[in-house]
Amino acid sequence: MKIAIIGTGNVGGTLAKKWIKAGHTIRLGVRDTRNFKGMEDFALEGLKAYEIKDAINGSEVILIATPASQAVEVTRSLGDTSGKIIIDSMNIVMGRGPKGYSNTSEAILDNTPSVDVVKCFNTTGFNNLQDPVYQGMSLDLFMAGDSLRGKKIAAQLAQEIGFDMCYDVGGNDKFELMEQFAWFWINLANFQGLGREFGFKLLKR
Ligand SMILES: NC(=O)c1ccc[n+]([C@@H]2O[C@H](COP(=O)([O-])OP(=O)(O)OC[C@H]3O[C@@H](n4cnc5c(N)ncnc54)[C@H](OP(=O)(O)O)[C@@H]3O)[C@@H](O)[C@H]2O)c1
Repeated sequence: MKIAIIGTGNVGGTLAKKWIKAGHTIRLGVRDTRNFKGMEDFALEGLKAYEIKDAINGSEVILIATPASQAVEVTRSLGDTSGKIIIDSMNIVMGRGPKGYSNTSEAILDNTPSVDVVKCFNTTGFNNLQDPVYQGMSLDLFMAGDSLRGKKIAAQLAQEIGFDMCYDVGGNDKFELMEQFAWFWINLANFQGLGREFGFKLLKR
């Protein structure tokens, strides 16, 4: 798959390194190709950075992993995204998000011609994206959005990096719930003293 990654920090950088190892073609889309987060590491992994529009060009999937406050600006900078799948990993934390929106995926949808926007990779820490295996058991992941083709791709990309199931939480009306679920993880990790090394798995009878 040809994947453009916008935001090369904790989440985007981790997923870029894992997806290239899984055999995908990755283009990092950055604001300044001579100075961006994580740039020292990427070359070693065979990852190259491009101007954002050049990264998008020819891609089938776009991951947006920037601060939520930048959601509208970043989406507008992508240019024509018709027919492309956009995976949104962002969360509005402590009210720092796009003005007038309760979640970042709605902000993306309002500013792109793509209708295939999926929320995924946002509900757990980047350390779990790096290594989702605990005591021999893989964590689960979760996704939401109206786009069935988008969710099929997101689930595949989650399983390729070691997650067990990627559960479908519902349509676009569940975008906000996905961010609340992320906040649940963040609360336990940062404010209830659990630290980052834990994750969620759904058990069924
Ligand atoms: N950290 C986690 O464990 C985690 C887990 C799940 C979801 N999330 C969510 O994922 C998102 C990214 O988190 P992170 O921890 O990866 O952030 P981060 O490490 O701070 O990285 C942010 C990236 O976004 C880029 N960026 C900022 N503004 C931009 C713009 N206007 N256009 C293009 N690129 C821009 C930065 O590029 P420069 O190098 O140019 O500054 C940087 O590469 C956040 O919304 C966060 O809530 C985080």
